Amino acid sequence: MPAVGGIAPTGDKEYPGNLTLYVTVTCIVAAMGGLIFGYDIGISGGVTSMPSFLKKFFPSVYRKQQDHNSSNQYCQYDSETLTLFTSSLYLAALLSSLVASTVTRKFGRKLSMLFGGLLFFAGALINGFAKAVWMLILGRILLGFGIGFANQSVPLYLSEMAPYKFRGALNIGFQLSITVGILIANVLNYFFAKIKGGWGWRLSLGGAMVPALIITIGSLVLPDTPNSMIERGQRDEAREKLRKVRGVEDVDEEFNDLVVASEQSKLVEHPWRNLLQRKYRPHLTMAILIPFFQQFTGINVIMFYAPVLFNTIGFGNDASLMSAVITGIVNVVATMVSIYGVDKWGRRFLFLEGGVQMLICQVIVAVCIGAKFGVNGNPGELPKWYAIVVVLFICIYVAGFAWSWGPLGWLVPSEIFPLEIRSAAQSINVSVNMLFTFLVAQIFLQMLCHLKFGLFLFFAFFVVLMSIFVFLFLPETKGIPIEEMARVWKTHWFWSRFVTEEDFPVGSLEMGKGGGSLSKSV
Ligand code: BGC
Repeated sequence: MPAVGGIAPTGDKEYPGNLTLYVTVTCIVAAMGGLIFGYDIGISGGVTSMPSFLKKFFPSVYRKQQDHNSSNQYCQYDSETLTLFTSSLYLAALLSSLVASTVTRKFGRKLSMLFGGLLFFAGALINGFAKAVWMLILGRILLGFGIGFANQSVPLYLSEMAPYKFRGALNIGFQLSITVGILIANVLNYFFAKIKGGWGWRLSLGGAMVPALIITIGSLVLPDTPNSMIERGQRDEAREKLRKVRGVEDVDEEFNDLVVASEQSKLVEHPWRNLLQRKYRPHLTMAILIPFFQQFTGINVIMFYAPVLFNTIGFGNDASLMSAVITGIVNVVATMVSIYGVDKWGRRFLFLEGGVQMLICQVIVAVCIGAKFGVNGNPGELPKWYAIVVVLFICIYVAGFAWSWGPLGWLVPSEIFPLEIRSAAQSINVSVNMLFTFLVAQIFLQMLCHLKFGLFLFFAFFVVLMSIFVFLFLPETKGIPIEEMARVWKTHWFWSRFVTEEDFPVGSLEMGKGGGSLSKSV
């Protein structure tokens, strides 16, 4: 999850500041937060396609997998415990992000990061040494709790420590580190699967201990953010800290803005009630629908289960893991394209282009799989060109996602919520995302068994819906300063019914002066 608070202040302000050691270390720790999340997303599909892992923990799936010819390929992985292994993490993340927001606010970002790191470490340790299925699931739940804490605190910490001119880039940078985490997981799975004796999966699962340790140690050595100190009434120390963090003496302007922002955010007493006001209808709609749609692109079918899917459609184990590496690389590169283009081409263009691209690929993949596997799921011999075509279109699909809904699904909500509702709206955004991530992980293998190749058409249908939604209801937010965001709703053909001149008179600032855009979110 990207930097939820990562909105750059707007207007003409230029707070002085350098890329100091503090900031560099902060970025490394923050990158670890994204990395470990991505690692957990990517790792499970690879290990579940390793025969030794299946044999040990999911023997019935293993038997079906061995019995290639007589069983229906679509259903070979249809097992509730196997699904639970993947999905339990997201349910735990959903629950803990609700608790984590209070811990982060009341006790500071560092403590949440420390919790996150320790939970990650414990989860990875238990998974690496797992002897029974319950240990696997317990480990995944702990990792999920860790994700809730880390995703809440790391991005916030990052957005408060980074010089403002880097904040926008860091927002998508966090998403980039998620994709790098997924890729690392795919690459390690590929190599660890080759280890003789079939215990490579232990390294795959235990490998998450490395970034977990870095987060834990980071949270111990990194200082509190100036924002957090101001909130707790330590103004003089906060000013001193800001000087050190920025590496310059003259931090008065930024410091004063931080104080203003902190005071303003204290005035926000009822973020949840505020969110229900009529004038916030567009924001509420986006906070729910954007994460919902992001998950209903079907992306996590690929991210979680690519090796399983490739296996299902007839690739050998090695080829399946290799194909997952290839889609992982495409994911990283296409996210970079988004970083490059988001402020040039705008959000709407990327959303719509990505939608069309995903749609076309989903239909082609459905046709390819349908043509070979039919409805009974027994393909016979699969020619090589067929495998290449499927992987190619899955890659083009992943690229479409990775430069549209992937990063923008996080960026757009974070730039449209005014301070008054930011904490509540951001929690909804994160929770809805986790909820549907969980659901997709939970139902995919069953859906594959029942809907067969039609599964891709199911997600294609949602891609059509979301593209129409973007076309009609999502205004362009490129280059709009956060304090002028009300304008886009007031002039929108549909949302102007809810957001009127009286709600946000011209010249009124939604967020207070520049510093107000330093998020105190989540
Ligand atoms: C989504 C994740 C997904 C990842 C893939 C993120 O934006 O929220 O669910 O796995 O992108 O790169």
